[in-house]
Amino acid sequence: MMLNIRDLRVSFQNESGSPTEVVHGISLSLDKGETLGIVGESGSGKSVLSLATIGLLPKTAKPTGEILFNGDDLLKMPEKRLSQLRGSKIGMIFQEPMTALNPAMRVGNQIAEGLRLHRSISRAEAQAEALRLLDMVQIPDAKRRIESYPHEMSGGQRQRVGIAIALALKPDLLIADEPTTALDVTVQAEILDILDDLVSELGIALILISHDLGVIARIADRTLVMYRGNEMEQGETERVLRQPGHDYTRKLLSALPRRARAGLDFTSPAPGEAP
Ligand SMILES: Nc1ncnc2c1ncn2[C@@H]1O[C@H](COP(=O)(O)OP(=O)(O)O)[C@@H](O)[C@H]1O
Ligand SMILES: [Mg+2]
Repeated sequence: MMLNIRDLRVSFQNESGSPTEVVHGISLSLDKGETLGIVGESGSGKSVLSLATIGLLPKTAKPTGEILFNGDDLLKMPEKRLSQLRGSKIGMIFQEPMTALNPAMRVGNQIAEGLRLHRSISRAEAQAEALRLLDMVQIPDAKRRIESYPHEMSGGQRQRVGIAIALALKPDLLIADEPTTALDVTVQAEILDILDDLVSELGIALILISHDLGVIARIADRTLVMYRGNEMEQGETERVLRQPGHDYTRKLLSALPRRARAGLDFTSPAPGEAP
């Protein structure tokens, strides 16, 4: 297993000095070429879990348990090695791509800069690689777009650039925390399909986090349902959707628009719901 999280708990130290636990013993595992979806309403602990996995929890957070990445426990790793790992093996994609981009720099240069920071390649090689990455995330007219500034692009295109920047480091694991939440529905679907293609083409592992079960259902092989820091259930996405093992999952399912639910192709309706 590439990633193996065992009994992860995260507490925050608050002003009064007493710690508050917000993630209560989560375990999960993930291998290359797999997508794990993590779903739950706002405040479930999804982001805290993902920050723990890239070693970016705030200083006030106390994690316990194990986060084994290729056999090494990230919770015991010195900060220097952790930041090397973040720059190479583990990539992150955020909800609002604008915050991850430099507004004053052409997108091609931003991708190339990241490349040159981690690999000794020439400026021209880095530009060529940036172009290849923009093609890979299906930016139309990439040759011209490589010269654009972030504000000249749509939200969906900026998110593609965010993915390209994360991919530039050739990560083994990509963590996408609400990557499509700020986007229109049709653009959401495009971005999810790109992520799905990357998982199969590059054989990376993807953790896809969303409050929207419809987003998770689209591409996740397995799904972890969280509520208030607890695991409600975890399993093959098909199974979770068709035979939810928890009332909370049924609640998330019933919150989906009817057409989306139809698209999910349920064989058995949730109790109390007309077929
Ligand atoms: N820096 C922090 N200090 C204290 N509590 C925090 C901090 N970050 C998150 N929390 C708390 O942890 C819980 C989970 O938050 P979060 O992981 O952001 O939820 P989600 O991403 O599922 O919406 C929430 O109750 C939130 O208030
Ligand atoms: Mg969050």
